[in-house]
Amino acid sequence: MIAGKSILLVVTGGIAAYKSLELIRRLRDSGASVRAILTKSGAEFVTPLSVSALTGEKTFVELFSLTDETEIGHIQLSRQSDLIVVVPASADFMAKMAHGRADDLASTVMLATDKDVLLAPAMNVRMWDHPATQENLATLAQRGVRIIGPNEGSMACGEFGMGRMAEPNEILSAIKNYFTPTEAPLAGLKALITAGPTHEALDPVRYIANHSSGKQGYAIANAMKSLGADVTLVSGPTQLSTPSGVNLVPVTSARDMLAACQKALPADIAICAAAVADWRIAEQSNQKIKKTSGNEAPTLSFVQNPDILATLSKQGPKRPGLVIGFAAETENVENNAKSKLERKGCDWILANDVSPTTGTFGGDNNTLLLIDETGIDHWAKMTKDAAAEKLSRRIADKLKLNT
Ligand code: CTP
Repeated sequence: MIAGKSILLVVTGGIAAYKSLELIRRLRDSGASVRAILTKSGAEFVTPLSVSALTGEKTFVELFSLTDETEIGHIQLSRQSDLIVVVPASADFMAKMAHGRADDLASTVMLATDKDVLLAPAMNVRMWDHPATQENLATLAQRGVRIIGPNEGSMACGEFGMGRMAEPNEILSAIKNYFTPTEAPLAGLKALITAGPTHEALDPVRYIANHSSGKQGYAIANAMKSLGADVTLVSGPTQLSTPSGVNLVPVTSARDMLAACQKALPADIAICAAAVADWRIAEQSNQKIKKTSGNEAPTLSFVQNPDILATLSKQGPKRPGLVIGFAAETENVENNAKSKLERKGCDWILANDVSPTTGTFGGDNNTLLLIDETGIDHWAKMTKDAAAEKLSRRIADKLKLNT
C-alpha cells in the first residue's frame, strides 16, 4: 500500500526526466504524496512549474536558498519522506552518490539521509557499460541502494542497448513492492545453489581455474532468499560478498564442491550455476613443482572431475524436487543446451552464450534461454540480478502449481 506514503522524488538531468512527470501522476493517483527536487540539469529537461503542478507541492532546486532553508531545510526534506526515488539517475549523479559528494541540494540530501533510496538509472549504453559506472553501481548496491532497470532498448541518442530507463509503471511497481510486506512464496523451502569457479591445484602454489565471477549464482542466492527460501550457497573462490541471510559454504575444488553439496541435502531446489572445472590434475604435487635443470616443461595429465549437477540429478530418494542447471556454450547454444539437459538429467536448464564477445563471463548482464517442461523461453538481455529474480519467480510459480 503506498496510499499515505510520502515520496521524495529526485529528478536529475537526462531526456528520461520527462517520464518522472508520468510517475508523479501515477503516485498521486495511488494516494502517495510527492515532493520533488530537481538538479540544475534536471531542470533543463522538466520545469519546476510542471513538476509542482503535478505534485501540488513546492519543487526545490537550489541548495542555499534562504527561504527554502527557513521554510523547510534539506534535512527536513528527507526526514519527512518514506522513500527517496531518483528518476532518472544519471551517470554523474550515481558517481556523486558513490563518492559522497554534496555540491547541490539533491546530492546533499542523498548524503544526509538515512532513508532508503531507489534509483532508476538512464544513460547512453557506453556510459552504462563503462567500468566507472559499473563500479559506482556496485558500490551503491552494496550500500543497500535499490536499483530498478535500466532496460535494453532504443535510446534518444539513436543507439540501442542497456541504458533506457525503466518505464514509470515498472518504477511504480518497485515502489509498491517496497511498501508491501515481503511476500515469501518460497518460505519453508530449502535451496542449494552452486556458484563461482573451482580451483584445481597443480601444486601448493599453482592452480587451474576459469573466468567465472560467481555474479549470476550469488544473484540467484539473493533472489531466492528474498522470496523466503532457506538458501545454502556452495561457492568456489570469488570476490563477492555473501548476500544477507544466505548460508555460505566456501569451497575450492570440484570435489570439495560436490562433498559440500551432498552434505547440504536434502534440499527442495538445487541450482547449479558454478563453472566447475571438468578436469583436475591427475597427480597433484605436494611440493612446488620446480624448473628442471634443462628448463624442460612438465607434462600435465588430467582426470575427470565429478559432475555435481548430474550427481544431484541422479541422487535417488535424496534428489531435490527441482534441479536446475546452466549451460555455458560458445556455439549452437540451443541444441547443446537441450542435449546437456538430457545428459545431466536435470529438470530445467538455463543456457547462455559465454563467447568472450558477449561479456557474460564476469559481466553484469546475461542473455539466457530457459528450457523447461513447457519448452524454450528466450529471455531478453538483462542484468544478472533481474535474471535471478525472473528465475526465482518462475520457480515460485512452478512450485505453487504443484501444491
Ligand atoms: N557442472 C557441474 N559439475 C561439473 C561440470 C558442470 O555441476 N563437473 C554443471 C554446471 O554448474 C552447469 C552445468 O553442469 O550447471 C553445465 O556446465 P557446462 O560447463 O556448461 O557443461 P559441461 O558439463 O562442462 O559440459 P561441456 O564442457 O561439454 O560444455
